Amino acid sequence: MTQHLAAPAAPDSGTRTDWWRDAVIYQVYPRSFADGNGDGMGDLEGIRARLPHLRDLGVDAVWLSPFYASPQADAGYDVADYRAIDPMFGTLHDADAVIRDAHALGLRIIVDLVPNHSSDRHDWFQRALKEGPGSPLRDRYHFRAGKGADGELPPNDWESIFGGPAWTRTTDPDGAPGEWYLHLFAPEQPDFNWEHPAVRDEFRSILRFWLDMGVDGFRVDVAHGLVKAEGLPDIGHHDQLKLLGNDTMPFFDQDGVHEIYRSWRHVLAEYAENEIGPEGPSLEGRGRETGGRVLVAEAWTPTVERTAHYVRPDEMHQAFNFQYLGTHWDAAELREVIDSSLAAMRPVDAPATWVLSNHDVTRHATRFANPPGLGTQLRTAGDRALGLRRARAATLLMLALPGSAYLYQGEELGLPDVTDLPDEVRQDPSFHRAQGQDGFRDGCRVPIPWTVEGPSYGFGTGGSWLPQPAGWGELSVEAQTGDPTSTLELYRKALQTRRTQPGLGAGDALQWTEAPEGVLAFRREDFACTANTTGEPVRLTAPGRLLLASGPVDVGDGDVELPADTTAWWAV
Ligand code: NOJ
Repeated sequence: MTQHLAAPAAPDSGTRTDWWRDAVIYQVYPRSFADGNGDGMGDLEGIRARLPHLRDLGVDAVWLSPFYASPQADAGYDVADYRAIDPMFGTLHDADAVIRDAHALGLRIIVDLVPNHSSDRHDWFQRALKEGPGSPLRDRYHFRAGKGADGELPPNDWESIFGGPAWTRTTDPDGAPGEWYLHLFAPEQPDFNWEHPAVRDEFRSILRFWLDMGVDGFRVDVAHGLVKAEGLPDIGHHDQLKLLGNDTMPFFDQDGVHEIYRSWRHVLAEYAENEIGPEGPSLEGRGRETGGRVLVAEAWTPTVERTAHYVRPDEMHQAFNFQYLGTHWDAAELREVIDSSLAAMRPVDAPATWVLSNHDVTRHATRFANPPGLGTQLRTAGDRALGLRRARAATLLMLALPGSAYLYQGEELGLPDVTDLPDEVRQDPSFHRAQGQDGFRDGCRVPIPWTVEGPSYGFGTGGSWLPQPAGWGELSVEAQTGDPTSTLELYRKALQTRRTQPGLGAGDALQWTEAPEGVLAFRREDFACTANTTGEPVRLTAPGRLLLASGPVDVGDGDVELPADTTAWWAV
């Protein structure tokens, strides 16, 4: 395949070990990004061929969701071999080529690490099952005898995040009902026992394996879950999903997780900076503590203050801001979360992060198309024009905030969720386990359109593993390129402006300025942002020269009418 390795869009981002403080990081969901071999499933070859799109978009780094050897019970978040690529995605050679090409284009690569659980096909787990009770390999997971006269009841009352009990009973090698094992997610995802030194050693070794491969960091899956409260105590409450994110659970956000991340930070510190872009690493970066390699926590905690614990100076570098993702398109709510996020990160000197979409939630163009309060997994398309208008405005607001931002593939095209997928094509394990009550994550995972025509709109030549809706081609990269009103060009312009305009990017503060109700207005150095979250136009004094807006804006003589659901950027 022909590669176009031109100079990176931002040569400066290639020479800073603290690049992550203001990085825009683009999430690639490998099975749905681009299919290089025409089997209907995205792969590494497809990703490699499309890297120039990401360079042109203007992002700094790419986070790849799991591509490891896996039976795919949870779309790759069930890893059977942490050092191998699943054949559906390619080979280690392909991974190496992606990393090298990305670096040559000035893009960093962050890979997903899944340390809370393995696949039930992982060698340790398989051997633990085969060897039966008393096997030392069982200590690397949580095996327990059941309660009740014949051990027929689960060892405690914990419920799986995907619905049903968090325990599954095993069958002994002689065919008799045996011990139970813990799985906070699907039964195919047994939880590791992080009290066991072999588990700790193994993951430090896995980190080194991928650092040796040249990756720039890790997004750490379920970073809040590794350590469980001693004795695995009952919660005493059913319907535990409702407690998640609000209460401290005996399996989440336990203080013991932090020493694990402190030890990982030491591992990262052994590595020098990668060569990024044509100029390679800065001299100043060499030998410095982190060498530009980073750890990013997927940590769902009750408060932003608890999230900040994960990014103390000797732990991880960033943590996802799920409080922000869950905030409605409402000025007062947004302001509160923005303020509390910045305040929480300041004492630990970590950048705030911002995110609106990922592979686990309904895309923001669809969330904002629906009435607030429905949660983050929806089945209703809502008012698509309204959703897109708000999504564009929300993105521009997000990219104006101090810190680092995460984009999810396809949001640059303004893609909505596919809310009408027939149940029989859905593959999300949580959909099937919860009997359709929850788990609508397939809707945001539909392969993205690259071209107007073609069997799978340029995703590949052999169809797509989830059906793409009719009309998907009108939203494609090809259709939107060069159209100044398109969402793709808005993202490109925004990311380009972010690199050049003082006041955008790194930092930990902003100054709110006076604004009518429902409008957010703030300044940072020579930059100002105004976001109208109301459904009506508002008249404002123009803070400066208009740089960019998420919709058509008329600047008059010193004042401006900001349309409903519109964000504008200003040079002051
Ligand atoms: C979080 C991941 O983002 C999600 O997709 C996965 O199902 C769970 N962790 C379990 O690994």
